[in-house]
Amino acid sequence: AIDISKLRDQSGLVTLDIGYKNTGATQSSITFLDGEQGILKYRGYPIEELAEKSTFIEVAYLLIYGELPTAQQLNDFEYEISRHTLVHEDMKKFFDGFPSHSHPMGQLSSLVCSLSAFYPESLKPNQTKEELNQSIIKMLSKMATIVSWIYKKSLGHPVMYPLNKYDYVTNFLNMTFGQLTEDVQIDPVVVSAMNTLLILHADHEQNCSTSTVRIVGSSESNIYASVSAGISALWGPLHGGANQAVIEMLEKIKADGGDTDKWIAKAKDKNDPFRLMGFGHRVYKNFDPRARIIKKACDDILEKLGVNDEVLEIAKRLEEVALKDPYFVERKLYPNVDFYSGIIYRALGFPTDMFTVLFALGRLPGWIAQWKEMKENREPIGRPRQIYIGAVTRDYVPIEKR
Ligand code: ACO
Repeated sequence: AIDISKLRDQSGLVTLDIGYKNTGATQSSITFLDGEQGILKYRGYPIEELAEKSTFIEVAYLLIYGELPTAQQLNDFEYEISRHTLVHEDMKKFFDGFPSHSHPMGQLSSLVCSLSAFYPESLKPNQTKEELNQSIIKMLSKMATIVSWIYKKSLGHPVMYPLNKYDYVTNFLNMTFGQLTEDVQIDPVVVSAMNTLLILHADHEQNCSTSTVRIVGSSESNIYASVSAGISALWGPLHGGANQAVIEMLEKIKADGGDTDKWIAKAKDKNDPFRLMGFGHRVYKNFDPRARIIKKACDDILEKLGVNDEVLEIAKRLEEVALKDPYFVERKLYPNVDFYSGIIYRALGFPTDMFTVLFALGRLPGWIAQWKEMKENREPIGRPRQIYIGAVTRDYVPIEKR
């Protein structure tokens, strides 16, 4: 038998799995995902059922604390959140300094990280359970306010303050679409659609941004810094940024005359870097259950809001063609959650560059739950190894001789 410890000492035995395609980084009891069968469950509850019956805040509670709340627990949780929705006024000073058209994700990542400067109790090593919980509540509460600020700034409008008589999602929508100058009623259809979208994005086990949150947190960085790192990871178009990229792609196809066959051919062409955005997933190799729910919700919501969006038709055509095409079938490439989400965000009135920020708002409970689990499990610092393939030893050459 091989003496592993000897091998480790002598040669530094490591497994090479670039992109962690088959490497488990942790044990977790938060989210179950079966990519072959297209199953997604939060704490054992099917995503289909949660999307239909729960609110976002109830799902946040479930993810973070492990159980569906009782009516009293939910009430207390909502109350606690509502007490922390204000963001320190001094944060506005540097928020004002961002160019108004800078990308919302850059603003969000910076603002979330700077919460650690305004709420420094989060820096305390070995926070008690109660202190840790307070940091979690503050993170959840202030995120919605910050996201709405970013939107208001992009319009050049004054920011709105939270109205704590509202539930979390209505409050967020009011701060985003409300006006200081007039009473705006938030449409219940919009509240319900927003709840569904946020629930569907709330966790997805060890994806790029969540792994980032866990790995940053594993060095005992505070919650705001860890979440901020997750936001940065989410930004890229291969991850959360795909929802923005999908709409931009659909718009381009529309402007190009709507010829979906031509764009499918482009996606298949290995000499063309173009990929069909919103298609494919590292884990789902059959279908993405979230995409099924969103596609259905998309039809319902657009109808209820009386929106007729031509890009929805283009999206459906693309999906239909791709699902029959051997290239996509052989590679098991199906629409993912972001293929249809942007169409709903747009119908709700959000500009394209806010889409990934909304994804971050939805993913926040998952990041928090995973960060908390990592701490409770006392996981060691995350530190991947490598296979070194550079020069072995080289003689140093003085600069004048190079
Ligand atoms: N369009 C065209 N071809 C694709 C696409 C696509 N969207 N996605 C994958 N492929 C092809 C690849 O070119 C590759 O082909 P090959 O075997 O001939 O080389 C094969 O399918 C496998 O693709 P990989 O990139 O190796 O798969 P991986 O698991 O690493 O990537 C990913 C998954 C990043 C999601 C990829 O499918 C992709 O880029 N999709 C588009 C971006 C997107 O929608 N991202 C959102 C993901 S969901 C989320 O984060 C919420």
